Amino acid sequence: MGDIDHLQQLYTDCRQTTLALIAPLTDAQLTQQVHPEFSPIGWHVGHIAYTEAFWLLGEPLPYPELAPIFRVDGYAKAERSRVLPSRELLITYVQTIREKVLAILPTITAENIRIWYWVIQHEMQHQETIAIIRALQGNLTPQFPLIAGPHQCLQFSGGVITVGSEMIDALDNERPRHPQQIHTFAISNHPVTQAEFQEFISAGGYQDKRWWSEAGWAWVQQEKIVQPLYWRSGRPHQPVCGISYYEAEAYCRFMGKRLPTELEWETAAQQGLPYQGLVWEWTNSQFAPYPGFIPYPYPGYSAAYFDGQHYVLRGGSWATHTYLKRSSFRNWYLPSIRQIFAGLRWAD
Ligand code: AVJ
Ligand code: FE
Repeated sequence: MGDIDHLQQLYTDCRQTTLALIAPLTDAQLTQQVHPEFSPIGWHVGHIAYTEAFWLLGEPLPYPELAPIFRVDGYAKAERSRVLPSRELLITYVQTIREKVLAILPTITAENIRIWYWVIQHEMQHQETIAIIRALQGNLTPQFPLIAGPHQCLQFSGGVITVGSEMIDALDNERPRHPQQIHTFAISNHPVTQAEFQEFISAGGYQDKRWWSEAGWAWVQQEKIVQPLYWRSGRPHQPVCGISYYEAEAYCRFMGKRLPTELEWETAAQQGLPYQGLVWEWTNSQFAPYPGFIPYPYPGYSAAYFDGQHYVLRGGSWATHTYLKRSSFRNWYLPSIRQIFAGLRWAD
């Protein structure tokens, strides 16, 4: 079965990346909580292992005393830094679980293979969160390729499109693959660059109520935001990175444009949208189930976020595992979150 070899490769490669992300960190950097919304990096590492053990090994879990620390419904985020085990125990925990997992990997069957694809994509997503926390700590600097080609507006005609995925690795929110009707639209051939966003800043965009939604205006004043979080001067041709949905929305209104819907984004991506995967791109779609949605592997994965509060991002960033960079993949965050590697691309 080629799937087993594929999974073995994915598991091994992905773990190398996770371990490389934490290797240069001091103990203090592993336990530091940089932001109230983000757990310490050490927690993410233990949570990756706990999740793997829970879904692939089952009871009895290795090191059951660590389970309450790494479950999402165990300690509150603010307590996690205090209750983390030592680095040594954390690494032993992670390795013990991985050895047991690799031992049963050859026994995967057609009936249980889906959970194996889910678990590895869970680790990949937490990997990006670890990269985000490192960036917030100031010890990881993204190197973006330049966006220096011609600035074009790409046209797509309306009609019936097919979105989503039925592949074995599709996450619950990508299913079912189904038809949707869209209108003719245009979308930029590249994510908004720092030079382009500079116009908004220079025009006093952050101080001008006209461009902001009501919630966005309240937020930008409250938080005293004046520029994107990962702004780097002297790099006009890199994509804007580190903006909230509110800022993305305000920029589009200032430009007389709008954010794409997630269906428009997916349509464009299916046809080879350029400059994908540099930054996550905010869409103006709320995260919602496709018709016929079935939660997998638990309602807390996607369904808990179908609350009319979260917005969909598409495409992936420089820190996203390539496996997740597919046209059907949906990410989601609250509109006020700007610590993620997110930018935008306008539509019309
Ligand atoms: C979809 C990336 C927002 O990291 O919170 C990880 C993915 N879900 N563990 C997150 C997820 C459960 C999720 N995001
Ligand atoms: Fe998780």
